[in-house]
Amino acid sequence: MEIQKLDSNHLRSGFLETLASLAETNLTFDQAYTVFYDRSLCPNIHTFVAISHNIVCGDVKVPNVVGTATLITERKFLHGGKRAAHIEDVAVHQDWQGQGIGKELIEHLLQQARVLGCYKVVLHCKPELIPYYNKFGFREWAEGMRIDF
Ligand SMILES: CC(C)(COP(=O)(O)OP(=O)(O)OC[C@H]1O[C@@H](n2cnc3c(N)ncnc32)[C@H](O)[C@@H]1OP(=O)(O)O)[C@@H](O)C(=O)NCCC(=O)NCCS
Repeated sequence: MEIQKLDSNHLRSGFLETLASLAETNLTFDQAYTVFYDRSLCPNIHTFVAISHNIVCGDVKVPNVVGTATLITERKFLHGGKRAAHIEDVAVHQDWQGQGIGKELIEHLLQQARVLGCYKVVLHCKPELIPYYNKFGFREWAEGMRIDF
């Protein structure tokens, strides 16, 4: 298992199927590529993938995406202009859950946030995942709110 930055090749090798454990993307490859391209223009969006090299296709082992997570950073006017980070879209392929892949991805994002000088990392999750994120040191902090258009 290896963690890499998302590149366009990953779109065809398990990335969208992996995200489906969170929610269906309902995107064609071309639409997904457009999203990838738009995001690549935003230097504060860091999407990582966990790659397994053990998927066998015929006699050949092919690398495949089995997990993903995104770190988004923003510079604040508050806190002396430091950066805050947000974790989004953490997903492990349903066939690969419970094998430590989510843990490796979250720890990687936290390390990246430290390297980027962030003073905090925040995320929203379902109530049943609070114990999961507690394991990494996250504590409950504020209620999330949303409006749908
Ligand atoms: C939630 C999710 C990302 C976890 O990834 P994972 O690779 O299955 O989890 P890991 O194998 O890394 O688990 C790491 C540790 O957390 C524990 N854990 C896993 N799920 C847990 C849960 N719901 N509550 C508490 N602990 C949990 C594991 O037992 C393991 O403990 P250990 O280190 O003591 O052995 C993954 O199951 C997933 O993609 N779920 C569907 C999409 C989703 O809900 N994403 C989260 C959006 S916020």
